[in-house]
Amino acid sequence: MKVESKRDEHFNKENKIGWLRHVRKQKNVVFCSLYDGSTDKHLQVVADPQICHEELCTGCSVEVGGSLVPSQGRGQAVELQADHLSIVGPCDNEVYPIKPKTEYTADQLRAFPHLRARTILHQKLLRIRSTASMAVHKYFLDNHFLFVHTPITTSVDCEGAGETFSIKTGEELKPGAGGRDGPGHFFNSPTYLTVSGQLHLEVITGSFLKAYSFGPTFRAEKSLGRHHLAEFYMIEAEVAFTQSMECILQVMEGLVKSMTQSVLDSHEGEVEDLWKHSQVSDQSDIVNRLLNKTYIRMSYSDAIKILENKKDNFKESPKWGCDLSKEHEKFLVKHCGNVPVFVTDFPTEIKPFYCRQNEDHATVGAVDLLVPGVGELCGGSLREERHDILRPRLDNLGLTQPYHWYLELRQFGSVPHGGFGLGFERYLQCLLGIHNIKDTIPFPRWVQHCPL
Ligand code: 4AD
Repeated sequence: MKVESKRDEHFNKENKIGWLRHVRKQKNVVFCSLYDGSTDKHLQVVADPQICHEELCTGCSVEVGGSLVPSQGRGQAVELQADHLSIVGPCDNEVYPIKPKTEYTADQLRAFPHLRARTILHQKLLRIRSTASMAVHKYFLDNHFLFVHTPITTSVDCEGAGETFSIKTGEELKPGAGGRDGPGHFFNSPTYLTVSGQLHLEVITGSFLKAYSFGPTFRAEKSLGRHHLAEFYMIEAEVAFTQSMECILQVMEGLVKSMTQSVLDSHEGEVEDLWKHSQVSDQSDIVNRLLNKTYIRMSYSDAIKILENKKDNFKESPKWGCDLSKEHEKFLVKHCGNVPVFVTDFPTEIKPFYCRQNEDHATVGAVDLLVPGVGELCGGSLREERHDILRPRLDNLGLTQPYHWYLELRQFGSVPHGGFGLGFERYLQCLLGIHNIKDTIPFPRWVQHCPL
């Protein structure tokens, strides 16, 4: 009997570390909310004022020892009755910008990129982001894809859109050094931060059937838009020995559904909390469709016909041969009952050189996946694997020399293949109904903004 009670006593003894979200000091008792980031629940700590340092306040980091007991309060099942409570790092509450029980807007929190991970909102986002990242790897592992680290520094501008950031050493930027790009440059040639790992993945699917990458990509787009970042994470997949666009669409659809299911399985309550904060009223219906509906397939030409019939709705008139604008993309998704839509077979001129020419010679086997709230979530294509078609294209663009290795892939055992890239932050925006993409990534970078 004695042994039993000793064991219970030991079992209930807890040592906790973390930060204080809120401190309420009363004459005979101090209540603190302790969190450590692992869950959206906080632990209520109840302490005698005698064991509390006078500097104890919101924002402090602490170590607490005590016993877990059933709580007398309403918000929690158990609380920690503290028998010691020490401050690890005090917090200067006069100037600490995150006040307890205050709701900050996402815009306000962006002013504190080094502190916003302490808020309930951003802690939820970070946990969900982490789970969604793991779900990406799980999906590809289950489907026998090889994980590849494609490089961040590269000498190719995959998309050819001129949105690259150039890499220069500190030495090359010194006055008088001339910011060299040729001989004398660190790499002896112009180099950039990658805009996409696709071409490197194509190297790998020259000898593996399926491969994927998941890493940072960089675009020097001077956009302040709510769907654009200068640094974002892209999931890219490439499949060899396929001439079927449908095969690529199924991987995209499977990936989105699998990630969504994993996030909902692990974070249902937190996701619903975020939906409540969202400006989108029917967010749960949107996610239901993301998860359960078969995505719609339509050609670019059919999409243009739909848009032309409704052209009075748009600032920019839709026209065959022009890219779809954000308003066109969002309209198409709404038109399809908010079910995600694959738009395929775009005019050759508006897609990059690597897309596979269709038999009509006017379009290429390219696809965009459009989703509610965001518009384009994925861009992909069948790749031009025929040397005799790719070579003149590269000649015309003056790219034959830098892409000689890409052409060689078509000379040495070329196979039909295709793939896509999915913008991870745009996915989180769509899933969670987040208005601004800058709130889906821990450290957002956009034009004129890279504070830490
Ligand atoms: O459509 P994109 O440009 O496709 C490619 O880069 C292909 N090379 C990918 C491939 O086939 N392997 O970009 C893919 C996705 C877009 O659909 C979008 O979701 C996201 O990347 N994206 C951005 N996300 C945030 N900020 C930006 N500036 C983005 N630009 C593209």
